[in-house]
Amino acid sequence: MINFWSYKREYKKIKNKILIRIDKTISKGNVFFGDELNNFEKKFLKKYKSKFGVAVGSGTDALLISLSALNIKRGDQIITAANTAIPTISAIINSGAVPKLVDIRDDYLIDPSKIEKQINKKTRAIIPVHLYGQSCDMDKIIKIAKKYNLKIIEDCAQAQGAMYKNKFVGTFGDFACFSFYPTKILGTYGDGGFIITKRFNDYKKIKRLRFYGIETTDKKNKFFNKYYANDNGFNSRLDEIQSTILNIKLSYTDNFIKKRINLAKIYIKNLKDTNLKLPSVNNFSKHVYHLFTVRHRQKNKIVKLLKKNGVGTRVIYPYPINIMKAYKKFGTKENNLKKTFSASKEIFSLPLYPELKISEVNSICKTLKKILKLIDQ
Ligand SMILES: Cc1ncc(COP(=O)(O)O)c(C=O)c1O
Repeated sequence: MINFWSYKREYKKIKNKILIRIDKTISKGNVFFGDELNNFEKKFLKKYKSKFGVAVGSGTDALLISLSALNIKRGDQIITAANTAIPTISAIINSGAVPKLVDIRDDYLIDPSKIEKQINKKTRAIIPVHLYGQSCDMDKIIKIAKKYNLKIIEDCAQAQGAMYKNKFVGTFGDFACFSFYPTKILGTYGDGGFIITKRFNDYKKIKRLRFYGIETTDKKNKFFNKYYANDNGFNSRLDEIQSTILNIKLSYTDNFIKKRINLAKIYIKNLKDTNLKLPSVNNFSKHVYHLFTVRHRQKNKIVKLLKKNGVGTRVIYPYPINIMKAYKKFGTKENNLKKTFSASKEIFSLPLYPELKISEVNSICKTLKKILKLIDQ
């Protein structure tokens, strides 16, 4: 069986390093806000050419804290893509705002030409979701945000290291949110997230919000590091154990991305003459292939036969947000989200992770081609 995803091979390779260093970390007697977290925050910001940022407990928290930093009022509206992960939407709703869903383009990313229609007096921000490892069309989104004085929160959960016109995703928005969920480009063995921001005051605020609203930046503040809440905050700490793992794995990230791109190239080379729709990569993009998502009218049959032949796949995402029970009331009519709906019925993702072998990708392609031939008969 070729699993859709697994971290076991990777862990086997770096296990000793990780266990030795975790032991050191715990032995220091500091579980939170220690050297590992500080180092990780510094290295992550340097790597992604950003000035300010904090690590938090998850990607979902990163979105919620960023929205809270914008002082969202109940009933404010936030624009985002209809084809996104549930947490993009739950963060918006948990901040008190209402999500306004926008359809996607053929690249599965938010369609900037459909954003303006959703803007009204209550709109406060746009959350472009850089899905599957590819950047949204940022120039167009930034232009709209400027025109209507809206904030931008980039959802980079699936696209760490991806680029738009040679600039890293995460460097465009007022805030940018990352996830270190294990499947991600940089994943820990647990939960974690990161917020990048451009302004010092926003940095101070998100740093308070992740720790009950307590001031931990401004040493001149008389309540510095005291049990005194400046803001109504959260508990969203990245602990020293997760920070240790991330510090080790951050140094491998570029190599992980190279491997992903290389495996994607092999998929493309093998499958380009089939009737599968392969990922469409924009010329402004450096795609980092968090997922290798393909499309076919007979998705269900193909997925079933792949499973029968020992190949794991996943559909990301099978249900557009506004058909789920929890979010029906935030729905836009189905025909406004036509592309999201038709994609959800036809897309599926093939295995792609750094430790997947080239021979395995070749074997998946061989099996897939046989299945396609059978189906087309
Ligand atoms: C697009 C997107 N946004 C947000 C998140 C939330 O991240 P986390 O699972 O770390 O809370 C995820 C991860 O599942 C995601 O894929």
